[in-house]
Amino acid sequence: MANILLAATGGTRAPTQVELCERFLRDGHSVRLVASTHALRFIGAYMARKPLKLPMYLRHYRPAFRETLAYFVEKPREVPHIAEGKWADVAVIAPATCNSLGKLVSGISDSYLLLILRALPRTKKVIVVPSMNPEMWYDPHFQRNIDLLNATDKYCVLCPRRGPMLSGDWGIGAQVPIEVITTATYRALGLRKVRTETLSGDPHANGVTRLAWVRSAWSLPEAFRVVLVEPDGKGRRALMEALRHEYPMMDLQGFATATRALEWLKQHPASVVLTELDFPRGLSGLELIQSLRRTVHEPVHIIATSTRDRRVAGAERLARLDVLFIPKPLNLTFVAGMIAGLVRQAV
Ligand SMILES: Cc1cc2nc3c(=O)[nH]c(=O)nc-3n(C[C@H](O)[C@H](O)[C@H](O)COP(=O)(O)O)c2cc1C
Repeated sequence: MANILLAATGGTRAPTQVELCERFLRDGHSVRLVASTHALRFIGAYMARKPLKLPMYLRHYRPAFRETLAYFVEKPREVPHIAEGKWADVAVIAPATCNSLGKLVSGISDSYLLLILRALPRTKKVIVVPSMNPEMWYDPHFQRNIDLLNATDKYCVLCPRRGPMLSGDWGIGAQVPIEVITTATYRALGLRKVRTETLSGDPHANGVTRLAWVRSAWSLPEAFRVVLVEPDGKGRRALMEALRHEYPMMDLQGFATATRALEWLKQHPASVVLTELDFPRGLSGLELIQSLRRTVHEPVHIIATSTRDRRVAGAERLARLDVLFIPKPLNLTFVAGMIAGLVRQAV
């Protein structure tokens, strides 16, 4: 069984850490908890409502003052942030705030939590679970931070989904469900099978695989159509393969040009359109997007992609059309998560 380090930062979803802790302990893993000062405020308020959970939390909590104490000992037996990093097989930062992700990306490690994540040995992974208001998500600097995390092997970002916010807003930024976080964690650990009772509640039902869990975790709409508009045949096929692997029930349509895609989309509804912005001939990706926004009345979620830099590609203008932008080379896991997050009905 694995050693799992759960790091919480100061978002409204900070109590997710408690839920994750309970889930991983139930599955037989060892868990350690670290939290930012802001996260502790949210968790403190949660504990006031559910005081019975406090002893469990304190048993697994790793206080930052261990690090402070180490400064005063001439030859400490261990350096706490290094020791925590070595102990963990995988780390999960859930929820991950804009603030802490900005610090992670900029190389700032001015808290015990950030220091541990920074010192995590390079063979291990950090599952990053952002959640925030849609306007914070669309902030251009935050988007660049997500791009930078997506360009690494160490950090695996689980794209938030569309959903209701505590502020009353609705849009992208809602945290993915617990099952998606646990599935990504087990995948990072290379655990192919999970305990059957976790999956189905039936301890005698043997042989249920991780894949079954992944599917049930998302409970996506029965059939939904995703249109990929990508001039590079190899890239298009790789993306289709990745999506099919994650979501076999997805109806995928691929087009090499925006012109062909638009003709087809005028006759057929689609849930998500992912389009390149530059095509050697015919309509551009932007023209396709503008036409879809004008002529297609069914709500269609649009993701644009390009090898060009965000600013050159006009990502902020696209955001005003409620179009998400992902730079190339695409992080296929993140793209698959984003598509699922767009089509999944919010609860
Ligand atoms: C009520 C409230 C809710 C908040 N929710 C979020 C959130 O969901 N996501 C986020 O990124 N920041 C949120 N913030 C802002 C963070 O708490 C703030 O940026 C803080 O500095 C984060 O510190 P940390 O990253 O060190 O935990 C919220 C703030 C308040 C007061």
